[in-house]
Amino acid sequence: MRSKVTVVGAGNVGATLGQRVAERDYADVVLVDVIPDMPQGKALDILEAGPVLGYDSLVIGTNGYEETADSDIVVITSGIARKPGMSRDDLIRTNQGIVTQVTREIVRRSPNTILICVTNPLDAMVQLAYSVSGLPKQRVLGMAGVLDTARFRTFIAQALGVSVRDVQAFVLGGHGDTMVPLSRLSSVAGVPLPKLLSAEKLAEIEQRTANGGAEIVNLLKQGSAYYAPSASVLQMIDAILLDKRMIMPCSVYLEGEYGISGLFVGVPAKLGARGVEEIIQFELLPEERAALQRSADTVKELVGVMGI
Ligand code: APR
Repeated sequence: MRSKVTVVGAGNVGATLGQRVAERDYADVVLVDVIPDMPQGKALDILEAGPVLGYDSLVIGTNGYEETADSDIVVITSGIARKPGMSRDDLIRTNQGIVTQVTREIVRRSPNTILICVTNPLDAMVQLAYSVSGLPKQRVLGMAGVLDTARFRTFIAQALGVSVRDVQAFVLGGHGDTMVPLSRLSSVAGVPLPKLLSAEKLAEIEQRTANGGAEIVNLLKQGSAYYAPSASVLQMIDAILLDKRMIMPCSVYLEGEYGISGLFVGVPAKLGARGVEEIIQFELLPEERAALQRSADTVKELVGVMGI
């Protein structure tokens, strides 16, 4: 039987993700949105690209949840996106209501699903989905680190004139201004990054990475990034559905790892068929640890605002 991936929110991130998953040809796709007829229209359009591109994925659009039953993976992208001048945190009140309602509907029909949250403010929304869903911590996670790392890798590759494939990069922490891009643990073809770029250039790239989302928001004028975000979610879905055991930074529930407890924060995790198979831990320098703690404190504050 084919796997089933449901994407809630058929906006920019959700519809692009639906397209990317359909093109992988290993799962059927359900697109859910509150706008009448819109997910149905987008789903039909993606379905009709199948004969041209050679995939057989079934793609269904709906305004309800019956079609989502027994999904293997559900991705939540529903919510409002940032406008210029807004931080991810400004979205919290509206998106709290949306993520709560969506999570309830999903889990009722797919109690064995793995839930990937994309809605911002990311780490707080994953925490909310975890708390509402009652799912085990291995099956609730958030997409942020893959995207932040992708941005970091793009800028490093550009600065050095090398292939993005040669660049391994590392980002820890919450998905926000306090994220911690770690040049010390990043490398190009195995060579540590600090040996290849000056401290000034590295600081500039780290800063651009942390502001990567805002840079796109300011250029687009309406809406926020979606090509790289949807590609990043696809990599997580690949790792889970194909049981690849890939290690990538994700927002996961920490219970003492990195000295943080009871909070979703971005750290390296091994993703496989069961979801989060393992949280990868390693020694941080004192200043890196402090930066991660500051990032976690910001997430904690937002979680407090939601009252969960
Ligand atoms: N149920 C289902 N869909 C909903 C609901 C709901 N309760 N509320 C809103 N939506 C839908 C909207 O109708 C819209 O089509 O969610 C979609 C969101 O799409 P966009 O506005 O295009 O936003 P997008 O760019 O896809 O970003 C979605 O991901 O990256 C984050 O910050 C971003 O939180 C935002 C989310």
